[in-house]
Amino acid sequence: MDLKQLNAFIAIAELQSFSAAAKMTGLSQPSLSRQLKQLETEMGVVLVDRYHRPLQLTEAGQFFYDKVSTVLTELNNITSMTQRLSAPSTALNIGFVPSVLYGYLPEIIATLKRQNPDIAVNLKDISSYQQIEALKSGEIDIGFGRFAHQDAWVQQILLRHERYLVALPKAHPLADNQEQRLIDLADNRLILYHQTHLPVPTMTNATTKSYSPDDTPPTNKPVTEPLLYLFAQYGITPLMTTEVSDLQVALGLVAAGEGITLVPASLKTVRTEQISYQRLIHENATSPIYLHTLKDFVHPKIPNLLSAVYRVYEQRGITYRRQQFV
Ligand code: BEZ
Repeated sequence: MDLKQLNAFIAIAELQSFSAAAKMTGLSQPSLSRQLKQLETEMGVVLVDRYHRPLQLTEAGQFFYDKVSTVLTELNNITSMTQRLSAPSTALNIGFVPSVLYGYLPEIIATLKRQNPDIAVNLKDISSYQQIEALKSGEIDIGFGRFAHQDAWVQQILLRHERYLVALPKAHPLADNQEQRLIDLADNRLILYHQTHLPVPTMTNATTKSYSPDDTPPTNKPVTEPLLYLFAQYGITPLMTTEVSDLQVALGLVAAGEGITLVPASLKTVRTEQISYQRLIHENATSPIYLHTLKDFVHPKIPNLLSAVYRVYEQRGITYRRQQFV
């Protein structure tokens, strides 16, 4: 069994066509068929059902595809990391989730550039989970996100916890309160905007589906949506929810009087003519900010970036615990 045979099999499995797979791999069709046949003969297993159009994998072929595609992705990642280790990119490629752009990211980048005038940076707006794959493939060198990740290739540093604020329409009856309790918000429509959900379900008395009192009651689905999870920790299930695609849309709906939401404190300057932002009394109502990078390859400019982060925190009087890479 060799890599050429495995790549031929993966291309056939993914494109479900010999001609498309031949085009993608740059092999002739007879040569591609030969690679697959040799692989099947060596394994003594039929992997592809050739009698269906489009082509289909046999049950054994599907099993082999699931396992082997993971191994090949890993091999590609290792190759890319080894290349980067030997010749790191000159520019520092930084991935970030949109909400951190409202925090100190612009100031941190300005500080980094001031302290390292020759540095080139590329900024990429990319979701928390996608950052992990992008780190491995080399698309980014570092990622800033709001979720912890357990991945054998990736290390993370918790930078700080940012408090959640309640965003209410200015005309809302609670808009003049100084502080809010989650229980007092339960009767409102809660606008949900997180694209990344929590991996470990622990509370089960709410649902991520949009529903209203007239709909069928919520089922006992695990709560993985971050805002619902926060409410569930206090035994609260918001009466109505609406899911939207991002934070800006959520704040747009709040501004239009369509509901309320919770946002990290750095968003408190957005749409202030229509939205009132208020503290929550709960100490644990926070959204963390993590830095992620590979364990085995830290781009040479990343320590400079981390020191720019801490520099800004010191200038801004932010409480933080200094950490180092493994
Ligand atoms: C912050 O607001 O603390 C922050 C934002 C982006 C990157 C690092 C830190």
